[in-house]
Formats: sequence, structure tokens, C-alpha cells
Amino acid sequence: HVIRREDYRAPDWMVPEIALDFDLDAAVTTVHAVLKVERNGSDAGPLRLDGDGLTPESVRVDGREAEYHMDGDTLVVPLDGAMHHVETVVRIAPERNTQLMGLYASGGNLCTQCEAEGFRRITFFPDRPDVLTRYRVRMEADKTRYPVLLSNGDPVASGDLDHGRHWAEWNDPFPKPCYLFALVAGDLAVNRGTFTTRSGREVQLGIWVREKDLAKTEHALEALKTSMAWDERVYGREYDLDVFNIVAVDDFNFGAMENKGLNIFNSRYILADPDTATDQDYDAIAGVVAHEYFHNWSGNRITCRDWFQLSLKEGFTVFRDQSFSADQGSAAVKRIEDVRALRAAQFPEDAGPLAHPIRPDSFIEISNFYTATIYNKGAEVIRMMATMLGPQKFRAATDLYFSRFDGTAATCEDFVRCMEEAGEIDLSQFRLWYSQAGTPRVTASLSHEQGSDRALLTLRQSVPATPGQPDKQPMVLPLKLKLFSETDGSAFGPEQLVLLSDLESEIAFEGVSERPVLSINRGFSAPVVIETDRSAADLAFLSAHDDDPFARYEAMQQLMLDTMIAGVLHGRTDHAPVIEAVANTLGDERLDAAFIAEAVLLPSENFVGDQMATVDPDAIHRVREALRRDLGRSLEGLWRQAYEASRADRFELTPAAKGARRLRTVSLGYINAGGAPDAAGLAFLQFEQADNMSDRQGALGVLANGSSDKRVAALDIFYNRYSDNGLVLDKWFSTQALSGRDDTLDQVEQLARHKDFTLANPNRARSLVGAFSVNQRAFHDASGRGYRFLADQLLALDKLNPQTAAKLLPPLGRWRRFDADRAEKMRAELERILATPGLSKDMFEQAERSLKG
Ligand code: ARG
Ligand code: ZN
Repeated sequence: HVIRREDYRAPDWMVPEIALDFDLDAAVTTVHAVLKVERNGSDAGPLRLDGDGLTPESVRVDGREAEYHMDGDTLVVPLDGAMHHVETVVRIAPERNTQLMGLYASGGNLCTQCEAEGFRRITFFPDRPDVLTRYRVRMEADKTRYPVLLSNGDPVASGDLDHGRHWAEWNDPFPKPCYLFALVAGDLAVNRGTFTTRSGREVQLGIWVREKDLAKTEHALEALKTSMAWDERVYGREYDLDVFNIVAVDDFNFGAMENKGLNIFNSRYILADPDTATDQDYDAIAGVVAHEYFHNWSGNRITCRDWFQLSLKEGFTVFRDQSFSADQGSAAVKRIEDVRALRAAQFPEDAGPLAHPIRPDSFIEISNFYTATIYNKGAEVIRMMATMLGPQKFRAATDLYFSRFDGTAATCEDFVRCMEEAGEIDLSQFRLWYSQAGTPRVTASLSHEQGSDRALLTLRQSVPATPGQPDKQPMVLPLKLKLFSETDGSAFGPEQLVLLSDLESEIAFEGVSERPVLSINRGFSAPVVIETDRSAADLAFLSAHDDDPFARYEAMQQLMLDTMIAGVLHGRTDHAPVIEAVANTLGDERLDAAFIAEAVLLPSENFVGDQMATVDPDAIHRVREALRRDLGRSLEGLWRQAYEASRADRFELTPAAKGARRLRTVSLGYINAGGAPDAAGLAFLQFEQADNMSDRQGALGVLANGSSDKRVAALDIFYNRYSDNGLVLDKWFSTQALSGRDDTLDQVEQLARHKDFTLANPNRARSLVGAFSVNQRAFHDASGRGYRFLADQLLALDKLNPQTAAKLLPPLGRWRRFDADRAEKMRAELERILATPGLSKDMFEQAERSLKG
């Protein structure tokens, strides 16, 4: 059943209020709901309440037993008046809820996940985001098993009952869509804090976890306070309730959820201490805590009219969390990381069968659209508007948006109109970013006649065809650019922002007395692919002299990419320019360690593959390893210097210390790649002496890639040390699944039979199956066994948790990019999935689109 954006209709009935009563128990929970419903317009039909697997035990209207019927899973109640109270009772079984949508059990506690359509698994309700309701929630449960009872909003009252039971009542004064409903019941400890808003409201903060994890919550609590202050300062947004609670659970389908006043998190985005969390984990925690907190305004106070508008809250909120994180450390390195993530996840999506615009036109299962396109490309689209408006007008535009749409369910169009009005800019053509899928390509070529004073830049754009969108219009592409002199490194004029809106355009630069070098798409000002005719020498020059750190990084990446692609296509390639550029970067004292570590890393095998008409995974692996070896060997002295210089006396979490650790492990990787005889010993020493997880996991990764006798020892030590810590065991699984060794596929098949492997926990499933399927060479083993393994796991997982299963399918959809033999094997697995009886609609949609799209 396909849902289309153009079919949107306002709801027939509104639900201004609901009273929910839960009799909580893991085996059987009884849900009693009283909905105050109001007719919306005169041609409203009967009241239709969504359900998913629910059977009504009783339906009453205005206190009397009512007529009703079921239309599939939907409860239909004929009503004649303008306002009624509709009362339903259902029973649900949280401990048998393996989908982890609705009310479910995790680690002995009970929690909820309702976005997008999980509330209908709890009670009958119009489960759509444009129905805004005031919630009163009463929970009753066994006091020993569930001493803590939390829901949205503010606590109202609580008390004890007979038979060891107790109750609590919560009230949320802000009308909200049902996807923001949450409750938690469990045996939880709390790390409390307070935050005073700038208008003087004292907010009680709480991070709730199991007792044993309490010591790992400080970083999340600090990140929350920092986020609250940041949103006041940067966007003028204040918090609006007296409490803000976060609960961490181990079984969670995604990262976290912004339920009003009661965020629920995957524990991997809360728990951290130096012994178990890497620097990346620390950063991700701060980023996700900020993201969910920022949703209070961009998502909750203003929500989405329908799920086609998802990017309205997600794209904007990702942009907000990216800006927040950029402010906490090196903005340049944060930008590099964000672009790398975009290229790793979103560009392939945009270039494959699952391509969709950031505001899709149709879907079968909305869960399949929580994608890198909606989130990350969505954030890039907001960023482009911010760039074009400039900081002051952008702030005026977001102020206008927040004040005009507060308390409503809005659309992407509403947001863009605020940008236009406050920004005094016409965004008619820019709106194509909301409707056209595909990554635009820009070719740039610069000409300069010798002896003249003028350079001419020719820009051409094209937007590739995507499924269902064969013909594209030219888009508005904001490109920051600058020209440099190769002779003395100076710039010809300041940076310019060019808006490329035609298919082709020419820009003249005056006062350019020699052939300049082009620096383009600086800061990655537009999420596009740039093709230039710049030589290896030009790129090497920019990698050493560009004054935009992103452009500098980019020039180096392009140089490395060109070098590897030449190797794959022609069998041989000249490593010298890359080696020289890396040496320059390593030796540049003005650069900080974090930047250096990013700049000297080779583009991933997947990324190289994404640039080729036909991916040759074995050749790419061989060529990339050869370049790594050469870099390691030729620059061994510099790597050792960097390795020693980034040694720390004591553990700190400052940006500088994190950068040093990153450079240290990157250097270790190169020393090892170069074949230094003491490399494995060095890695093992780092592994054993580490006083933090970044160093330890970094060393383990290096060892797991190699074949020294230290490899098995280190994996065993790591396993035994952390066998009771699920989040660290996930690292143990993924490190092995990502290994570049020849036997990785065998290892992964074995790990799937390991006693600690389970598909029931999404983090664990992703740590092995998800990690393996992005290991390009291992997954694309010519035998096709990698494909079969993935399909087997997906089919098994689909029975438990369709949402998480469907999210892991896309690697099979890359079949068009491989040789006929591999493509046929991949297709065969997709066909096998589609032919499986009882397939979920999540998996059906993903497999079908992957095959046909
Ligand atoms: N809104 C949540 C967030 O962005 C994610 C919810 C994911 N839901 C889903 N059905 N995939 O943080
Ligand atoms: Zn979000």
C-alpha cells in the first residue's frame, strides 16, 4: 500500500486531550485510554483510530458501550456529535515485542518508542503527526521491579498501593503528536543536575540508567547543559518545562528519541568513561544529546504536518547539532567528518536504486525513510540557505519560523517561506533541492591566456537521473571559490560566493596576471560532486597552501583518489605526488594534529568504488594497500616522529588531546602498513599500556588487520576484559568484521555463531552484519558467500525486527555497479528475499526498490 504526499488531507477528528492509564507488567500491560475527540470540519466521516496488532476489549462513547467495527487493524467508531469522549481498553505484551516499537522490555525495564508509527501498537489513536493532544498519564506497577515511573512533562502525584504496587501520574501541558509520547518503568538510578534558563526557570535534569552504569553518565549530563545554553545563545530557544529526563536503554532501533521532556536513548549515546568509550564515542554522545535536546524546538514545539515533511525537523536539527559540535572543538575537523559521513552514506544512496528527494513523494513504510538523505542531505540544504542568507538574516528567518509556527504541525514549504521573507531572497528555484533527488555534478574549468590580466571560469552543472525522475532541472548551487597564485601562494582577491543556477555559466576574474589555481566549493558550500581539470601539481599546491582547511583536505583527498583510480584503471600509478603532499602536511607545524590525522587518511575503498563505473573490489583493495604500504615505508621516519610526539603523559578530553590520540593511531597504522618489523610489537604495547579506549581500540584495529601472532592474543585479551560490557563487545565484533584480512568472511561467518552474537539486540546485529556489509572487499567476495550471509541474516532478523533488518539491506542494492557475475549473485539474493513468505513491508519495500529502481 503506497502512501502519497499529494493525498494529504486534514484529519477528520482532532483529539485535544487524552487520559492514559497503564497497568504495567512485562507479560501483560493493560492500557485504558480516554480520548476527547472533536469533529474537524463538517464533512468528517466516522472516527478512525489506528491500531497495530491491537484487539479492543471494550469501546465506550460518552460512558456507554458503543457500536464499532474493525477495518483491518483500524478501529472505526461512528459518531454523530461534534465532541465525544471515546474510551478503549487493550492489552499488550511488552516482553514479546521484539520489534522494539511501541511499549517493550529492555534489560528488565519497560520503555517506549513511538516515532514514527509505534503509538498505534500501544493504544488506538489517530497516529499522525498533525493531531496534537494534551496528555495525562497514570502508571501503575510493581514497586520492587519498577520503582521508577516516568512519562512526558511534569510529575503530578504518586503513591503506594496494596500488594507491593505503586502509581505515578504525569502531565504534559504542551499539546503534542502521539509519536512524542513516552513512558519508562524500571529499576533505574539517576545522575541529577540543574540548568537555569536565561529567564530564570530552574530545570531539574536527570540521566537515568541502571545502577552499574551511573558512573558513565557525567559526560552526557554536561553535554545536555552545554546544549541548553547553546540553543539560548545561538537560536534564542529556551527550555519550557521544569524537568528534562533522559533514559538510556540497551535495546534500541536507532540513536535516540526526542520524546517531550523524556528523551530515550540507545545506551551507546549516553554511557562513557575513558576505559570503555573512544573519543569518537564521546563526540557522538555530545552530538546526539544536543540533537535530541534541540528537537524540543525543531520537532516538538513545531512538528511535522505529515511524514513527508520529516526533513523539516531532521535536516534542520542535524544542521543545528553539527553547528553545536563545530563550536565545541575544531570547526574545520567537524566539517571534514560531516562531509565524510555524507559521502559515505548519502552520496551512494542518491546514486542508487533507493534515491529519493529530501521531501519524498511516496512511501510504503515510513521507517525506511529515516535516511542519510532526509537527515544529512537535509542538513546540507539548510546549510546552503544559511550560507546564502548570511548569519544575521538566517537568525531572523529562524526567529520568524519559531514564532510563526510554534504549537503547530508545519511543512518544509513553511520553513522555506520564512527564509525567503526574512532573508529577502527568492528561493523559487532553490526549492528544487526539496523535490529533485540525485547529487548534482559540477565541472569547473579555468582558463587564462598568457600575458593577459583575466581568468575565465566555466561552470557546468548536471543532475543525474534517479528512479522515477529521468529529467532534471538545473539547481541553485552556492559555490564558495577563490583563486591562488602558484608562485607566491597569495590569493587573487577575496573568497567569493557564486550562485550557479544555470546549466552553464562563465565568470571572469580581473587582475589575474598569471595562470591561477582554483579553490572551489570551499567549506563544502554545496553538497555536489566537483570535477576539475586541476593537475596533480595544482592539487598538491592547494593541499599545502589553501587557506580554507576544508579545501586543503579536499585537495589532498582528490590527489589520493586520482592516484588510486589511475592504479585501478591502468595497473600502475605514480605515488610520488601523494607521498610528497603527505610529507608536507606531516611536517607543517601550523597544523593541528586532528586536522593532520584527517588529511593523511586515504579515501575508503568504498569511496574509491563509488567513483568507478564498475567497481573492482579486489583491485581497489590491492591498489589502496600498495599506496598505504608505500606511504608507510617512504615516510617511516615522519610517522615515528608523529607517533612519539603525540604520546600523552595523562588522559585528557580536550580537543588537542583527542587530536593527538587520533594522529597517534593513524601513524601506527602507517608504520604497520609499511611493514616495519617492530610494528606489531609497537601496536601490542600500545594496546596493553593504553589508559583509554581510543588508544586500545586503535591498536586492536591495527593488529586485527594483520597476521602477527599478537592478533589473536589481543582479541582474546580484549574479549575477556570486556565480556560483561555489551557496548565494548560490539567494538570487538565490528573490529573483526571491518578487517582487511583475506579470511574476514570466514571469521564473520564464525562470529555469527559466537555465543555473544544475537540479532535481538540492534547494536549487536549492526556491529557484525552492518560492519561486514560495508567492508567492500570481504562483502563482495567473488564466491557470493558474503551476499548469501547478509541475506540469511536479514531474513532471520526480519522475523524479529523488520525495521532494523530493512535498514541493513542497501549494500545489496549496489548490484548495478558490479561486474555481471557479482551483480547476478546480488540480484539472486534480493529475489530470494522478495520470494520469502511473510516478509515485512519494511523489507519488501527495500528489496523491491533495490531490484527495480
Ligand atoms: N527522531 C529520532 C531522531 O532523529 C529518530 C527516530 C527514528 N525513527 C524511525 N522510525 N526510524 O533522533
Ligand atoms: Zn532527529
